[in-house]
Amino acid sequence: KVIDWNPVMAEKAGYKHFMLKEIYEQPRAIIDTIRGKYSLEEGEIYFGEVDYETIKDIEKITIVACGTSWHAGLVGKFYIENFAKIPVEVDIASEFRYRNPIATNKTLLIPISQSGETADTIAALRMSKKMGAKVVSICNVVGSTIARESDGVIYTHAGPEIGVASTKAFTTQLASLFLFALFLGQKKGVLEKSEIKSILNDLIQLPEKIEEVLKHDKQIEDIAKEFVRYKNFLYLGRHYNYPIALEGALKLKEISYIHAEGYPAGEMKHGPIALIDKEMPVFVLGTKSRVYDKILANVEEVKARDGIVISTVTKGDKDIISKSDYSFILPVTLEELTPFLNSIIIQLFAYHASNLLGLDVDQPRNLAKSVTVE
Ligand code: G6P
Repeated sequence: KVIDWNPVMAEKAGYKHFMLKEIYEQPRAIIDTIRGKYSLEEGEIYFGEVDYETIKDIEKITIVACGTSWHAGLVGKFYIENFAKIPVEVDIASEFRYRNPIATNKTLLIPISQSGETADTIAALRMSKKMGAKVVSICNVVGSTIARESDGVIYTHAGPEIGVASTKAFTTQLASLFLFALFLGQKKGVLEKSEIKSILNDLIQLPEKIEEVLKHDKQIEDIAKEFVRYKNFLYLGRHYNYPIALEGALKLKEISYIHAEGYPAGEMKHGPIALIDKEMPVFVLGTKSRVYDKILANVEEVKARDGIVISTVTKGDKDIISKSDYSFILPVTLEELTPFLNSIIIQLFAYHASNLLGLDVDQPRNLAKSVTVE
């Protein structure tokens, strides 16, 4: 018997698609990204690649990015404002460059880019530098344009990402932002050592918890089978998981071509609620958090209108799970770390939808891995 083999298959390491392989690589990618940046015993965070002296007087942080990297930036704002108490604005690079953005020598610009070559993000970086801003970028590709033109670079160690739909680059961006926020909080004296220790304790358990979430793969595929015939999806999340709702909708659009919208759940009553019926499934990120009761109320509103609810919940959940049609049960973790676990579910859901529809998962139509022209 001749074994069917080629170099691309070898690169996929037994996975049917690069995207699936990259989803499964996330525990490893996160470990590589945070390695060497903290001491659990000391309760300290280190960023040798950032010269803190040059940024210690900043008064504002601006994050610029595109696509999935912009979603990471939205979560980053919550991390930095929560842990370091520095005001953060997050902008889409193509918007930033064509308005009259304000940056000074008291601004820290954080461009986020997997490739480091996205044209709009490069333009936003150059404009900010001209206005005197300091630049610390978060990049995956070593030596890329954005990395070279920044004052400091925080590298994500996701490894090469081949699938057009970003997965491991996204969660490693989240991990970098999480640690950088802790770093700023430590330097500014907002966080005490004991707080940092306790947060780090949760962070180091994260890769194992992601492994646990990956075990839902078969369940996600089964549920995706029931839902691929639908034409519209709504993704809802709040606070830390609002950007993950946007990312869930983006992933589904990108690779399965099913129309989906992501919304901060509190905005449902200002529009999307008009769309709810049994033909538009609602994906709710319902893990335990300070806004849990608010999310529960959103679920009830959807059910009152005959909507179908697919939710993520935290182990031990009673309320959202009992009102949902389908739920994925996720391990208990720090509220700030729930975006990582929810990301795995929405990534796998989009993956299976695309695969079940027989589409080109790794190279969806009309999309490019890196958009180097306008
Ligand atoms: C393209 C890719 C996306 C990516 C975006 C930003 O649209 O298809 O996956 O999020 O560019 O890319 P960057 O390399 O700057 O993160």
